[in-house]
Amino acid sequence: MGLKQAICLAALATSATSRCYAPNPAFPVPSWPNGASTLRTAFQDLEKQYDTAIKAPKFENTSFSVEVTSKTSTLWSYHHTAANLNPARPGDGNVSPDSIYRIASITKTFTTLAILYQQAAGNLSLDDPVTYYIPELNSSDYTLPWKDITLRSLASQLSGIPREFAQSDIWNFFQDPTSIGLPPATGEGLPTCDEYNYYKPCNRSDLLTQLKKSKPVFAPNQKSTYSNLNFELLGLVLENITKLPYAQIIHNLIFTPLNMTSSSLTKPASDVRAVLPLMPAGEPNYWDVNEGVQNPTGGIYTSSRDMGIYLRYILTHYNALATGVNWFHPVSKGTGPHSFYGMPWEIFSTEELLPESRRPVTFVTKSGGLPGYYSHIYLLEEYGLGISLFVGGNGAVFDELHTPVTTDLIRAAEEAVWEDMQSVYTGRFIPTEDYAHLNTTLTLATSPAKGLHLEQFISNSTDVLAALFGGIMSAATSSHPRHHPKPKGQGDPWHAQLTPTLLHANETASSGEIYRVLPVLTQKPANAPVWEDDCVTDVDTMSYAGKAVNEMVFWFGEDEGDDLVVELPAWNVSLRRVGGREGRAMVVQKGDL
Ligand SMILES: *[C@@H]1O[C@H](CO)[C@@H](O)[C@H](O)[C@H]1NC(C)=O
Ligand SMILES: *[C@@H]1O[C@H](CO)[C@@H](O)[C@H](O)[C@H]1NC(C)=O
Ligand SMILES: *[C@@H]1O[C@H](CO)[C@@H](O)[C@H](O)[C@H]1NC(C)=O
Ligand SMILES: *[C@@H]1O[C@H](CO)[C@@H](O)[C@H](O)[C@H]1NC(C)=O
Ligand SMILES: *[C@@H]1O[C@H](CO)[C@@H](O)[C@H](O)[C@H]1NC(C)=O
Ligand SMILES: *[C@@H]1O[C@H](CO)[C@@H](O)[C@H](O)[C@H]1NC(C)=O
Ligand SMILES: *[C@@H]1O[C@H](CO)[C@@H](O)[C@H](O)[C@H]1NC(C)=O
Ligand SMILES: *[C@@H]1O[C@H](CO)[C@@H](O)[C@H](O)[C@H]1NC(C)=O
Ligand SMILES: *[C@@H]1O[C@H](CO)[C@@H](O)[C@H](O)[C@H]1NC(C)=O
Ligand SMILES: *[C@@H]1O[C@H](CO)[C@@H](O)[C@H](O)[C@H]1NC(C)=O
Repeated sequence: MGLKQAICLAALATSATSRCYAPNPAFPVPSWPNGASTLRTAFQDLEKQYDTAIKAPKFENTSFSVEVTSKTSTLWSYHHTAANLNPARPGDGNVSPDSIYRIASITKTFTTLAILYQQAAGNLSLDDPVTYYIPELNSSDYTLPWKDITLRSLASQLSGIPREFAQSDIWNFFQDPTSIGLPPATGEGLPTCDEYNYYKPCNRSDLLTQLKKSKPVFAPNQKSTYSNLNFELLGLVLENITKLPYAQIIHNLIFTPLNMTSSSLTKPASDVRAVLPLMPAGEPNYWDVNEGVQNPTGGIYTSSRDMGIYLRYILTHYNALATGVNWFHPVSKGTGPHSFYGMPWEIFSTEELLPESRRPVTFVTKSGGLPGYYSHIYLLEEYGLGISLFVGGNGAVFDELHTPVTTDLIRAAEEAVWEDMQSVYTGRFIPTEDYAHLNTTLTLATSPAKGLHLEQFISNSTDVLAALFGGIMSAATSSHPRHHPKPKGQGDPWHAQLTPTLLHANETASSGEIYRVLPVLTQKPANAPVWEDDCVTDVDTMSYAGKAVNEMVFWFGEDEGDDLVVELPAWNVSLRRVGGREGRAMVVQKGDL
């Protein structure tokens, strides 16, 4: 290795600090073009699990709906009707995709979406202080530091303001608070609405008055903590800007354009499609509770059919809602390395889900709960899947219901993706006619652990994996100062993995899928040092004569039967597959990124 070469590789290793494992994304977003059939076995398995679960007595008073959608259509759903229905309120007694639940805090995503639309329309900036749209807050009557609280702080649970103003007060639930050791209290100055007054809806002035007594939980933008008030205030912001009531805004901006005909912020006129949980004696049925000024934080009624429409809309628009906003990105940290808040998403990222890879699976979710109603939506950007789970009845069954559809199903989806990637992308490639004089070959393979990877790349008689990427990896794994030096030749096992950029060489025609090749470690070594888990993504590391050295472009033929050509721009070569593809794409349609 020449000196210049050695310096270059060392520089690359330093800039890449390449202790990174399987990249995200590892495959193009699947479109599940054959609908449910690709995942049929997985859905049958889910059905069996739910069929068994519902036999338990704890399901006798509980109805639920679970639905899985791709970016284009509902793939599968399961609906269960409680054996004991509410005798006082006859509905149709047959839970279906059109049955209506309350979705509680999932409403926050609708409020935030309406705010994003205002930003896109130039009606506000997420970075404006909230005082600008709720002028009453700009007053020394308040202890809360409103001028430092922006719409973005509110939407991302970073305002540091309290969680509630008229809910969750023990004072309302214990006849005798001294029985749990609390001193007697007079209740003076407490609100006269919501749980303080037989669920009478609170209004704007109740909210603004009570907030005068509130103190910060954290300084603004210091640390996230869940707050319903954040979204109640965003609702008032929307009302100020549009001069319309909140319910009307959500109808105009979301329900009507998306044709969510079963969705509303007021109780549906009849109980016919209502899921009405049996509540313990003396407790109100939340179906009937008007949330008033708290509607923007938890008021929506909807069906799983409508929710499917909404999830599909989000899966296809999350990065095109307002300039500078990717709606799936985390904006503040939760506790521990796996949980984050988005605006207002609850994001969970886990390395424990895939059996053969350390690639994290990320769930962009929102959960919601009111007495008797428990709901959760999950968006999986990388798999192109959305899941909704609505429960009316016993909240204790929730974990049992959500585990299969968020773990077993994703593992099955992962398997289907790699089967498909295998048939669509892999094989041995040799030069096209223009480059026939070169001794150049490329072999692409897939495996659940290594993803889509280069098994071999000979360019003009030279083994590139050893000459280039091998050098990078030995620099990164043996001599990087952050890690224990390793004897020569004993670097950790690595492979050259492809990651789709989701861009096309020709965006007009959606053709020429652009990938980048990354040298990645195959396995986390035993007794790995603490910094092992640190991976700041760095994909665009090195160029040759001005072209990205790790770029590969996949060109699928226009016609059926035309096969795949791989172009390596920096290597000035195009290669065609020997023997054609093995099967047809079931999951990943060419050009569908
Ligand atoms: C279902 O409701 C009935 C009637 O209110 C009650 O007796 C029973 O204990 C409930 N079952 C469960 C599992 O909660
Ligand atoms: C808040 O009030 C102060 C003084 O009353 C005024 O100068 C300022 O412009 C107000 N800020 C907003 C955002 O309305
Ligand atoms: C709405 O906000 C504007 C400032 O952006 C303010 O002048 C106006 O008073 C607000 N309207 C209400 C009803 O609060
Ligand atoms: C809001 O509710 C309070 C009592 O909770 C009442 O005194 C007040 O008049 C109401 N305000 C409006 C604008 O309806
Ligand atoms: C932006 O504000 C204008 C004026 O109030 C309103 O007509 C328009 O509908 C708003 N845009 C959105 C997306 O609501
Ligand atoms: C809107 O939804 C209703 C109810 O699901 C359906 O009957 C109708 O065809 C839909 N309209 C459009 C334009 O999709
Ligand atoms: C191939 O390699 C030879 C040296 O072995 C070199 O002279 C030639 O320029 C290379 N050609 C291409 C097209 O890379
Ligand atoms: C092509 O290059 C490979 C790797 O250097 C070598 O093993 C093989 O013999 C070469 N083939 C020809 C026809 O030159
Ligand atoms: C992109 O594809 C379109 C449609 O096939 C074609 O007309 C156009 O020439 C292509 N652009 C380039 C830069 O090749
Ligand atoms: C790329 O290869 C082709 C075919 O061998 C050759 O005609 C062309 O000059 C090469 N381009 C560059 C920039 O070297």
